[in-house]
Amino acid sequence: MTEHALPALPTERRPGCPFDPPQELVEAREHSPISRLPFADGHQGLLVTGYDLARSILADPRFSSRKELMKHHPTIDYGDIEVPPAPPGEFLLMDDPRHARYRRPLVGKFTVRRMRLLTERVQQITAEHLDTMEQAGPPADLVTAFAKPIPAIMICELLGVPYEDRGSFQDDIDTFMNGETSDEDLIAAYTAVQEYLAALVAAKRAGPTDDVLSDLLDSDLTDEELRGMALILLAAGLDTTANMLALGTFALLENPEQLAALRADPALAGPAVEELLRYLSVAKQFVRVALEDVELGGHPIKAGTTVILSLGTANRDPERFPGPHRLDLRRQDGGHLAFGHGIHQCLGQQLARVELRVALPALVQRFPTLRLAVPAEQVALRPEIADIYGVKSLPVTWDA
Ligand code: HEM
Repeated sequence: MTEHALPALPTERRPGCPFDPPQELVEAREHSPISRLPFADGHQGLLVTGYDLARSILADPRFSSRKELMKHHPTIDYGDIEVPPAPPGEFLLMDDPRHARYRRPLVGKFTVRRMRLLTERVQQITAEHLDTMEQAGPPADLVTAFAKPIPAIMICELLGVPYEDRGSFQDDIDTFMNGETSDEDLIAAYTAVQEYLAALVAAKRAGPTDDVLSDLLDSDLTDEELRGMALILLAAGLDTTANMLALGTFALLENPEQLAALRADPALAGPAVEELLRYLSVAKQFVRVALEDVELGGHPIKAGTTVILSLGTANRDPERFPGPHRLDLRRQDGGHLAFGHGIHQCLGQQLARVELRVALPALVQRFPTLRLAVPAEQVALRPEIADIYGVKSLPVTWDA
């Protein structure tokens, strides 16, 4: 085990480096792929920043995702408060077999083939939003005009959420994810989404339609479980891809030669999206708890230790990705951890890929003179404390 110890989890990125993980994390990885990390309640946790070690832990059943075991938080002291298990259906924070009960019936609905069939619909939605932006004329906030609505419409259509209802719960989900919400507002938003989803499941029971949620009605899943599953899909499907679209555009605008390459060669869309996923790692860190004493690559980890996996730093590991801090859309390395790995590997990754591969090239082709409407340092970034990284807004302009 390294003697390197971080004083606490860094909370901000270096000014002028919005795409790079906090410098302290990059330096920690230079010392060792695993470092000690003091938590707010005095617990001695661990921080994993190396690619190989992060990937091994994600695939190792001796490390748990169970919510009730996550009683230590790097920056919050929960004191004696018991953390309850994840509610039925919210399978992101469960281990198998509980997790598999919910994931298994969904896997077939998010396959590469199924998601490729949606390409035409994504193209249509993208074109409609680009038309609206063009008609309104510059400037625009790319987050509200483009990055948020495209994934929102797709996940709503897949789940059978009426589009008119999107506004209310999109705001509520935003409230969970933005990292700037008081506990009181967080509870209110969670309750509002739960109430909405309860009504939605009841409506599907009364009159099933052609969508993922209705397809699940014939199973032995209870309404409460269906509600939990829908919540996870909505929360994961709305915020992540939206942040990739907006932050991805920002990164391209800041790397004009890469942007020009993508604009010139549509065949670059596939590798470009993989590279942006690696480089930006918007789902930047996840937590696991060791269920037993484990030794990995010579590093002993004691049972009960909370391990923070910094996917953002692992995806910048120079031992895995040469020149890791360079955005290179032609990179051939593959194998990034932006969608995780192991049993919790992102269920919606094929959907996200289709959306990103269609929407980013379409945007840069439609607006050949697209540029930031404010200096880069004035773009409002999400705080590090938010689970998903990104920009709050992205003011852009172009020659009309
Ligand atoms: C670029 C966009 C996305 C990124 C970067 C991303 C990233 C991730 C990551 C890293 C995990 C693993 C979490 C862990 O190991 O604890 C995950 C899980 C998950 N993602 Fe995504 N995701 C994206 C888009 C989506 C979309 C569009 C959906 C909606 C269908 C989705 C649904 C899920 C679900 C349901 C899980 C939990 C899987 C499980 O626990 O078995 N994600 N995602």
